[in-house]
Amino acid sequence: MAEANSSRGHYIAFSEASAVPVERKEHPAGAFVGREREMSQALGVLEEALRGRGSMLLVAGEPGIGKSRFADELAEEARSRGVQVALGRCWEAGGAPAYWPWVQSVRSLTKHVDAELLRELLGSGVTDIAQWLPEVRGILGEIAAPAVLDPDAARFRLFDSVTTFLKSAAAARPLMLILDDLQGADTPSLLLLRFVAGALGDGRILVVGTYRDTELDADHPLVAALPELARERCVRRLTLRGLAEVDVARFIEVMAGVTPHGSLVWAVHDETEGNPLFVQEAFDCCWRRVGSRRRPAIQVVASACLKA
Ligand SMILES: Nc1ncnc2c1ncn2[C@@H]1O[C@H](COP(=O)(O)OP(=O)(O)OP(=O)(O)O)[C@@H](O)[C@H]1O
Ligand SMILES: [Mg+2]
Repeated sequence: MAEANSSRGHYIAFSEASAVPVERKEHPAGAFVGREREMSQALGVLEEALRGRGSMLLVAGEPGIGKSRFADELAEEARSRGVQVALGRCWEAGGAPAYWPWVQSVRSLTKHVDAELLRELLGSGVTDIAQWLPEVRGILGEIAAPAVLDPDAARFRLFDSVTTFLKSAAAARPLMLILDDLQGADTPSLLLLRFVAGALGDGRILVVGTYRDTELDADHPLVAALPELARERCVRRLTLRGLAEVDVARFIEVMAGVTPHGSLVWAVHDETEGNPLFVQEAFDCCWRRVGSRRRPAIQVVASACLKA
């Protein structure tokens, strides 16, 4: 696939948009608390990627610990630095086509690009990508059928086409790719992840993969993929654990609108082990009992709920 750098005009238009810093928006789920150390590590990895050392960050943790939210917050930081962000989420309930998280993220990258630039970015990989994204044919017109190859060779060519496309897109504007819930990824998607990890090179790309590390049986395909990924120089791992008591206090404060008593913070932290989802659920339950979000009452009810 040709390096897509010949059409300067397009690229300038594409990258000028990226140069405008985007203001951070309030997250629909509310304030983000804690995670300063982890975020500073992740921002370090992002900065490396922006300097042209393609990187991959794998974020692990139990359900509800905040992996997706962390990736979202990092994505906001990335956007504010002019990075384009693409998201692919694995579908665990069955029925999704192979490569589903990749299909979603590549699709989102092709969406707002005009036909000429799209053709350039896809280069000779267009035949492979068009198999994933039938809409590409709608935009670009007739595309030759891919050459008939044996399955291994065809897969290799697909991997190369996807990687080259990502690098071309990132040459126009730095790119962050989030692949959420990798514990639900199909084996081909994990193979592609390994391929991409080995090929990021000097691309201004950060790939962030999140996964539940508590649900991996020995024969889970991710268990085989993780040590392979760990061998790649560009891959970093980060495990999220429960929020500290001080962060739980802040979390309660932003949810309930009052500074919680120390004993309530201690009890919530003890009960939830700082898992943000459990903290939220505890308070949703209290709010239902109070019947409204009357602020002072919430502390009384929460304390009572936790003692019950
Ligand atoms: N540091 C945080 N500050 C505030 N809210 C948070 C924080 N981390 C997570 N949350 C909130 O907690 C809830 C659970 O977080 P999230 O969905 O990111 O967990 P997860 O680890 O991705 O879970 P799963 O394994 O089920 O995908 C979300 O509503 C999220 O907004
Ligand atoms: Mg999640």
